[in-house]
Amino acid sequence: MSHIVILTGAGISAESRLGTFREKDGLWTKYDLNEVATPEGFARNPDLVHAFYNARRANCRNAQPNAAHAALARLQKEHGGRVTIVTQNVDDLHERAGATDVIHMHGTLSGALCAACDHRWTAPLAMSTDDPCPTCKEMATRPDIVWFGEMPYHMDEIYHHLTGADLFVAIGTSGNVYPAAGFAAEAQSAGVETIELNLEPSATANSFDTARFGPATRIVPLWVAEILDER
Ligand code: APR
Repeated sequence: MSHIVILTGAGISAESRLGTFREKDGLWTKYDLNEVATPEGFARNPDLVHAFYNARRANCRNAQPNAAHAALARLQKEHGGRVTIVTQNVDDLHERAGATDVIHMHGTLSGALCAACDHRWTAPLAMSTDDPCPTCKEMATRPDIVWFGEMPYHMDEIYHHLTGADLFVAIGTSGNVYPAAGFAAEAQSAGVETIELNLEPSATANSFDTARFGPATRIVPLWVAEILDER
């Protein structure tokens, strides 16, 4: 059975009005990532970090999956082989479009984590340091997001998929953040065909055998239709 591994980044949710990070008006042009996306920033000012993720959680609830998310869910349903989505995104738009087999390597906005006992639960819309952990009752509640300097989730599983896939596709990611930025080279060195679907060439463009450029809501459905052998 064939296996397609698809890495998605913020660009696939851009047309759902969820911001990207490094473009003009990107999140990292408005916030200092050291303050809101590192363990040190959380230790310094947990209320600022909770406010940042509470705002993103609310945005996510108001956002809708777009045609690119829907196309990937369709590919999973109709392809006949396995289609694994590895996403750097913390939104749930893949799942709300009907996708399954989704691996969130940077965590999820819908998750809460206890920094004291590692207990995980579903995050309320607005989290704060006043929310005690439901298990150990410590006031150590944090978003279940992988911050800079922390190890992404499910890496063993992801590398297993990468090196055993028939096709690796990266959609809507700038190729600036490792380890995800290294996935295409990892796949290519294992003899896996690599394709980039993006608005413009990423920083790791030379790790892709082919590339198509344009907005995800246009180029992803077209690519899926080709894969499903429809013209
Ligand atoms: N369609 C397709 N691609 C798009 C679109 C669109 N409509 N809009 C933007 N893009 C592309 C941009 O060209 C860029 O290559 O999406 C990419 C967004 O890049 P980033 O903002 O760097 O987002 P991403 O690559 O997902 O960042 C990776 O960095 O800050 C961390 O944890 C965060 O998961 C994030 C990681």
